[in-house]
Amino acid sequence: MVWTKAKVSLALSLVTVFLGISVADLKVGFYSDTCPQAESIVKRVVSGASLSDPNLPAILLRLHFHDCFVEGCDGSILVDNGAISEKFAFGHEGVRGFEIIEAVKAEVEAACPGVVSCADIVALAARDAISLANGPAYEVPTGRRDGRVSNMSLAKDMPDVSDSIEILKDKFMQKGLHAKELVLLSAAHTIGTTACFFMTKRLYSFLPGGQPDPTINPVFLPELTTRCPQNGDINTRIPMDRFSERLFDKQILHNIKDGFAVLQTDAGLYEDVVTRRIVNSYVGLLNPLFGPSFETDFVKAIVKMGKINVKTGSNGEIRRVCSAFN
Ligand code: HEM
Ligand SMILES: *[C@@H]1O[C@H](CO)[C@@H](O)[C@H](O)[C@H]1NC(C)=O
Repeated sequence: MVWTKAKVSLALSLVTVFLGISVADLKVGFYSDTCPQAESIVKRVVSGASLSDPNLPAILLRLHFHDCFVEGCDGSILVDNGAISEKFAFGHEGVRGFEIIEAVKAEVEAACPGVVSCADIVALAARDAISLANGPAYEVPTGRRDGRVSNMSLAKDMPDVSDSIEILKDKFMQKGLHAKELVLLSAAHTIGTTACFFMTKRLYSFLPGGQPDPTINPVFLPELTTRCPQNGDINTRIPMDRFSERLFDKQILHNIKDGFAVLQTDAGLYEDVVTRRIVNSYVGLLNPLFGPSFETDFVKAIVKMGKINVKTGSNGEIRRVCSAFN
């Protein structure tokens, strides 16, 4: 074979592509040689802290989503970077759990300094959170590295509670997630709470004249308006999954179908033909016989979410503390 300039550059670009793909792979048990205790430390700290704060699983699950949707799953949301810190973005309103991740990190660093990324700790903590809430157990591919950027303007496209279903589908598609994954991942609202702050529009100014969202079941409306009264305390928190806020199950999809969704975006999943069909595939009459398993599909979706724009290989860094770049 004769090496022409064109062939050399083709070969070089194939090598680059190949390297690009191979380094981008996460794998289950990434730390099994370098820090075999890593996953058990995460689990121990998260379970311990959940005893004193039963809403912690929900907090950690949400943190994983918000981390992944900005700059990829790279722990960027954890960094204190002065006034422009990503964590101060409006789209991250109410996101918490930073100190728990930092506590896990301190223990992991004591066991194996400089090995385990904050980004992986966030992903593992979310997995343990789901399991603490009786949700499905699953293995988390690891090997993420921590990002070197924290800028609130990068979070301006976070999904918002008043986004239309079209916008939501689009924002998920930007991250490589399809309508099915939008439905499955929204069902994470099977655990946790929302501040009344996010309910104001849906309850008191949805339609001209201040009428509420008409998709709210009339039985449910007075419950919501009693718990989140107009001009009441916007910091009051209410469960997002009526009757089952601490259990990770598919009750939320039944609620969405029946008009008992709490968030406007969750309700919106039943107003669109595509996402409605997906909701029904999990909670319709035929599901027990022929339907897909919510738990199996949710696991696939969250593992996929955990791979959004990850930094691997020599990209990024392994932070010493999660709140600061090295
Ligand atoms: C589809 C777009 C989404 C929107 C618009 C949305 C919006 C919200 C809002 C407004 C809250 C209440 C926050 C607060 O008051 O502190 C919330 C809470 C929560 N979200 Fe989402 N979310 C979305 C998707 C997701 C996804 C994909 C996950 C995880 C896979 C998730 C997990 C959670 C959890 C677990 C909570 C409860 C947090 C707590 O109890 O403190 N959300 N979400
Ligand atoms: C943050 O991002 C915005 C928009 O991309 C940019 O204009 C600004 O310079 C960034 N700030 C810092 C300190 O990097």
